[in-house]
Parts: sequence; C-alpha cells; structure tokens
Amino acid sequence: MTPPTHFAVEYAINPWMDTSTPVDTDLALAQWNCLRQIYLDLGHSVELVDPAPGLPDMVYAANGGLIVNDRAVVARFKFHQRADEARAYADWMTARGYPPITTQHTNEGQGDLLVVGATILAGTGFRTDEAAHAEIAAAVGLPVVTLELTDPRFYHLDTALAVLDDTTIAYYPPAFTTASRARLLALFPTAIEVATADAYVLGLNAVSDGRHVVHPAAATGFAAQLRAAGFVPIGADLSELLKGGGSVKCCTLEVYP
Ligand code: ARG
Repeated sequence: MTPPTHFAVEYAINPWMDTSTPVDTDLALAQWNCLRQIYLDLGHSVELVDPAPGLPDMVYAANGGLIVNDRAVVARFKFHQRADEARAYADWMTARGYPPITTQHTNEGQGDLLVVGATILAGTGFRTDEAAHAEIAAAVGLPVVTLELTDPRFYHLDTALAVLDDTTIAYYPPAFTTASRARLLALFPTAIEVATADAYVLGLNAVSDGRHVVHPAAATGFAAQLRAAGFVPIGADLSELLKGGGSVKCCTLEVYP
C-alpha cells in the first residue's frame, strides 16, 4: 500500500475525477489508515511503498503491477500523468527481490489483472492494451482470460469484478461486452451479480482473503449478498479516495506467494 500523502485530483483521466471538487488529504489519510488497520487486524502483513510528490494517484497501489507465481510485472501506464509511478513500484519490487518484468504494451497492473485460482482475468477496453495480455501470460506463466469493458465508469477490471476465492467472483454484467458476459457466465455460473446501486459506489472494488471481503462500506446490497454466500463482509469508508475513481482494491496491491 502507498499512503495518500500527496493525494489530490489534479487532472481527470476517468469519469469519477472532477478537478473542481476539493479533496481533504488528511481525511484521505485517516480513511486509508483505517483500511490498513483492517488488514492488520485480519492478520495480513502490509508493506508500504514510499509516496512521491507530484504523483497524486500513487495511493492506487494496485496499478503498480502484478506479483504472482514468484514473478513481478511492473505497470506501463496509459496516461503520462501516472507514468513515473512505474519507477517507484519497480524499485520496490527490486528491493523485495523480484526483478521487475516490463511489457511493451500498456498494462495497469492489478487494476486490470486479477488472479483467480491459477488463472488471470485480464481487462481491456480503457487502460490495459489487449496486446499486453499475451505478454502477461508469458511473463507469469499463467493462462489469461481477456474481458472487455464497455462503460467508462468501470474503466479498470477491478471496478467491475471482484475475486472472492479461487473459484468465486462477483461482477456487474452491464460493464462488459456481450461476448465477455457470456465468457464470465460460462466460467463462473454461480457468480454473484451485483446491483447497479452497489456498482455505482465502486462496491466491487474489494479485497478478499477467501473468507473476509473488505469492500466499500456504501455497497450494502453487495454486503448482504456476500453474507448470504458465506463470506464475512467488512465495510471500509474511503469516500475521499472515491474522488480519484478508486476504493479498497485500488489501494491494495496483493502479493501472491
Ligand atoms: N485516478 C486513478 C486513475 O484513473 C485511479 C486508479 C484506480 N485504480 C484501480 N485499480 N482501479 O488511474
């Protein structure tokens, strides 16, 4: 995780961002600290990446890369405003003993690359280039399933789909093309489909350890669905970070053993 020390909405690269909306950085930090404490209380370990001035979106650590199968792929950002974040995340990977692998094509890390069991669900349509999917598969040695997003509000896969355990996902069907919806239905016939109200508070931007699902607190319908499916939902309020178009998952780069 990367603390939102320099968080601001200085440019608009997704429909959630409005540069005229004031951001309370202290509140963002307090909310982010609550999220970090939730992970610690659940027994997870949290490592911190140093935030860099001039990179206001660095708090969305999920975009820094993908670390799975003992391999680390570093992001190649679509927009120049975020490009320099890649160096910071690459440095962290190197320090942690993972030589960072780069891609030729745009990839925004775990924003678009979600691990489910031994498969990578890979988003495209707004940020990660479809051509990067094959690069990712080769780099980490896992099969990749391409999923195409259609609604600009759900510009990263992790805004429209949450992995709950090795075989279970939740998603918002209208965010995907007809072909990708069919693909998801075939792969995950018992998936949780969330309502529009929950999707529009970025409810799917959640992190699960297979039992506890940390999700944006406003997604109360999703929380009820999770409970009914046997998961333990834990709501976190990240309202300030929603102003940048991100929530729980965006703030969390999961490291798989
Ligand atoms: N403002 C950031 C952007 O538009 C938000 C990134 C959210 N991260 C995520 N994993 N969905 O790039």
